Amino acid sequence: MKHKVIIDTDPGIDDAMAIHMAFADQSIDVIGLTSIFGNVTTHTATRNALRLAEMAYYRTIVAPGALVPLIRGAEPPADFVHGAEGFGTVPAATPAGSADGRSAAQFLCESCAAAPGEITICAVGPLTNLAAALSLDPNFVRNVKSIVIMGGSYAYHGNVTGCAEANIWNDPDAADRVFAADWDVTMVGLDVTERTQCTPDDFAFLASQSPQIGGFLRRAADFYFDFHQSKTGVRSCFMHDPSAILAITDAHLFGFEVVPIAVICDGEEIGRTALYEGQDRRLVKVATSVDNVAAREKFLGLVAHADDISEMRKAG
Ligand code: BDR
Ligand code: CA
Repeated sequence: MKHKVIIDTDPGIDDAMAIHMAFADQSIDVIGLTSIFGNVTTHTATRNALRLAEMAYYRTIVAPGALVPLIRGAEPPADFVHGAEGFGTVPAATPAGSADGRSAAQFLCESCAAAPGEITICAVGPLTNLAAALSLDPNFVRNVKSIVIMGGSYAYHGNVTGCAEANIWNDPDAADRVFAADWDVTMVGLDVTERTQCTPDDFAFLASQSPQIGGFLRRAADFYFDFHQSKTGVRSCFMHDPSAILAITDAHLFGFEVVPIAVICDGEEIGRTALYEGQDRRLVKVATSVDNVAAREKFLGLVAHADDISEMRKAG
């Protein structure tokens, strides 16, 4: 049985890595991409999601997400990490197709209602669309199979502030509602995503094996390497969003603690994922360790064949 997945995403360079890895993984059926602001605006995220699907000849629905956080103003896009158009210095391109007429929240609710208990939502951007879907349909929480989030930091530092990770910090109120809901949540945070890294040589390898998709990722990753090098002094990049996809297909690569999570929504620690002190929240599987050698190899192995698989899709 394939994993049926909807990826909620703000593409974004590492989002592109995750999406192309998922498209190349024949154990995954990506039934849709829902867009969200974060790395770019929601309009740009929608355009980029369409572009990624078209690049891989992957027929999937792209549904446009919320334009702003649930109850506060939007922060500016992270163009210093992902470039003004989202894929580093790769120029903007207009997709041939267009987005679905439904909002991301409607699409999420309708898809999960049509296949109750079958769909995993892999959220690799701010969690506004998930919170909106929770409000839209009281049955949504029951219809979803599971939620896997790239976001947060458990026993680790933040990347926007000393304690807050970007996806959670961009809409802390939405994230807290997602952690409060009665569903199966896995949190893949900086504790593990910063431990799996790729280098320029890795992307040169991908470009040599898969000139279209690997070549695109190599060009986009250059800008991402510049950002990481300015922060860490090392020319390698963190594999944030691909780690969340791997937590669906290869959960055995991760170690987990099972704890209730709250998001700090005010004050100096806004956006921090903290232990929830009460008794009335369902436990979250928080990834705290990763076999980073195997995780990197799995990513490289899948994307190395991305062109072959997309050519097969194009032909068939
Ligand atoms: C997360 O924030 C975004 O910049 C990345 O795409 C990733 O989802 C990492 O903190
Ligand atoms: Ca992302």
